Amino acid sequence: MPLPKQFPTIFVIFGTIGSLSRKKLIPAIFYLHKKKLLPPLFGVVGFARRPWTHKEYQKVIADMVQKEAGASLSEAQEFSRVFSFQRGNFEDASSYTELAALVGFCDKEWKTCANKLFYLACPPEYYEIICKSLAASHVIDPCSPKEGWTRVVIEKPFGRDLKSAEKLDTFLGSLFREEQIYRMDHYLGKETVQNILAFRFTNSLFTPAWNKENIDSMTIQLFEKEGIVERGAYYDSVGALRDVGQNHLLQLLALFTMDNPLIFDAQTIRMKRAEILQTLKPFDAQGVVKNTVRAQYRGYTQVADVAKNSHTETYFRIKTELQTDTFAGVPLYLESGKAMHEDFVQVTVEFKHPLSCMCPKEGGGHVHNVLRYHIQPHERIAASFWVKRPGQKMVVEEKDFSFDYRASYEPHEFVEAYEKLLLDAIAGNQTLFVSTSEVRTSWRFIDSITRVWEKGKPVLAVYDAHTRPKIPEAKKRSTLPSMAPKKVKEIGYIGLGKMGMNMATRLMSLGWRVVGYNRTSDKIDEAQERGAIGAYTLHDLAGLLNMKPRLIFLMVPHTAVDGVLKELLALLSRGDVVIDGGNSYFKDSVQRGTLCEKRGIHFLDAGVSGGPSGAFSGACVMVGGDKKLFKKYEHLFEDISAPGAYAYMGAPGAGHFVKMVHNGIEYGMMQALGEGFDVLQHGPYALDVARIADIYNRRSVIESRLVAWLKRAYEKYGSELTEISGKVDHSGEGQWTVKTANELGIPVPIIQGALQFRVRSHKKPSYTGKVVSALRNQFGGHEVK
Ligand code: BG6
Repeated sequence: MPLPKQFPTIFVIFGTIGSLSRKKLIPAIFYLHKKKLLPPLFGVVGFARRPWTHKEYQKVIADMVQKEAGASLSEAQEFSRVFSFQRGNFEDASSYTELAALVGFCDKEWKTCANKLFYLACPPEYYEIICKSLAASHVIDPCSPKEGWTRVVIEKPFGRDLKSAEKLDTFLGSLFREEQIYRMDHYLGKETVQNILAFRFTNSLFTPAWNKENIDSMTIQLFEKEGIVERGAYYDSVGALRDVGQNHLLQLLALFTMDNPLIFDAQTIRMKRAEILQTLKPFDAQGVVKNTVRAQYRGYTQVADVAKNSHTETYFRIKTELQTDTFAGVPLYLESGKAMHEDFVQVTVEFKHPLSCMCPKEGGGHVHNVLRYHIQPHERIAASFWVKRPGQKMVVEEKDFSFDYRASYEPHEFVEAYEKLLLDAIAGNQTLFVSTSEVRTSWRFIDSITRVWEKGKPVLAVYDAHTRPKIPEAKKRSTLPSMAPKKVKEIGYIGLGKMGMNMATRLMSLGWRVVGYNRTSDKIDEAQERGAIGAYTLHDLAGLLNMKPRLIFLMVPHTAVDGVLKELLALLSRGDVVIDGGNSYFKDSVQRGTLCEKRGIHFLDAGVSGGPSGAFSGACVMVGGDKKLFKKYEHLFEDISAPGAYAYMGAPGAGHFVKMVHNGIEYGMMQALGEGFDVLQHGPYALDVARIADIYNRRSVIESRLVAWLKRAYEKYGSELTEISGKVDHSGEGQWTVKTANELGIPVPIIQGALQFRVRSHKKPSYTGKVVSALRNQFGGHEVK
């Protein structure tokens, strides 16, 4: 952002010869000066204990920029002239009075009231005394509300936990307004990091895929080859997690997962970053042991100023997730280390196939797309995709679409992080600075980890410098699949109607061997065409299953379950498992479970929602029965469900109980839609109901799958739903919900009303009835005539 010419500015640096100033801050000021991006009236005052004169200090600066920023002697000398020196002790009040006089002198010389930026590039323990003393000397008072602003820039760490961060915030807040406080996380100023929002929100290719339905995992890594060199005392007191995890990694996470801010405005973007960080669930002690790894490289304790018995981590790996509708269940990995095998900062997004892909076996099976967003040292974005290799065979292999930032632009177009952030601080743009709520939410999460680490859990592992830590937990994770018992992927499937056929097809696409049976043989033929092994009798079905114990899934009308079960029990052996996935009354399921168990056959009840389309693309599944049995067959429930859309509900019958109530609720919701749309269609305005269904589904409170189905029905049958019957059928479950509620003494007038409406509709068809029938048709394929 070009600065208005009239921005006379004085920069006061505390910690002017520390490693931060030397390596980052002063070189950045030099480059900005060289590019003539600083205001014409610009001066720097260095504040330090050394007994230097202005000239001696300027010589130090000239040497520094020659060494650290590649300045020529003449450039360095010319640059150093903007520097003045204030000798002082951070604790000594008189030094600040002298500083105020020196700054005032510049004002007089420039004949203006300059803006003042106080940069605290010193250890955080001095923040308080410096700010207090600045306030006491009145050097932070602006000349007037319109003239000569004053701002303070502080470097991380902002506290060492939530409590100290809050204390620091309260303290700073007592002296400065939030608009005056610039909390620096230099990662936010990196070109590639700034690009994240542009990348995510301008490319419609990725935006629709940015959710749990499509993302398998996200990994954020910051690896540095260099160990700890000169910052032993600082580093040993913070460790890797506080040094880069609480700030850089969590900021990257926020940028990769936050909601679209819609406008590029500092307040909104900072708020969106904080909002997503708030959804990180703090760990309990067990969670820390299970999901975090910490390690220290061999030789770390030999570094100067590091305690010989230090337990500080130089490496960590954390598995976490966000509690949002968009990302719940997507594993997020945060990993960072010093003295690693290589230098790189990268965010990897692995996408998944909702169904297993149509890829040939030769493709290696695990065919998915990966986005690699490289931040350092190569600034590159690469998305992998799969192509067929030329030749006779259908073999696919992975290739990249990639974009190299540096190769695509001229070097002078790049602005380094510190340069960008310094200019923003002068221009008063806080977008790339961390807000107080971001600081607090990130500490809340980090504290939940460090609290357990401080008690010695999990054990601090050790790794050789310049290697990727091979810590036991990480190893265990990577070998887990081969150590886990082999998952049985064979199932006998009974009931190949709309739901069953689709679910069986889905299972086959996910590598299951399906032996299918149906009451009518046409469906068995169809299932065979889709790849199933057809069983024309239940006897055949039992015989065609190879694995022991056998696993059988029922998807038949509730009225047929007892008959099928009776026949099956005579054919099965002890230990075999039957899962009833249909819409059975929960009390029947309890009895059936007991009956099966008496014969040594295990039984689970599974309520399945989502209609035939859900059965194909991933349903919602609620399971009741023995928990151990559920765990044993969890991979089946995972495979028949949409991502994360299955759960264990409780004791036998609980799955069907929860599904029954779901159906009662569904009755009420559909009835409300029917009645509401009747009013819309026959009210005083000539309304387009299809359009209304569409608009209701664009972020309104009643946005839902039902409304989307209604829109589809209107598009297909027209607003009067002429071909649709105004009589509505019901298949039992709404009635069971009412019955159960009555037994419990719970009034359910809405569900009951919806049920009675359906019964009455056969004598008195209506437009409301047409809407409900149309909905039943859309999601369940039920008859509409
Ligand atoms: C700093 C950490 O904030 O970031 C350092 O204190 C780390 O320990 C550095 O080395 C990494 O920054 P960059 O820009 O070199 O990736």
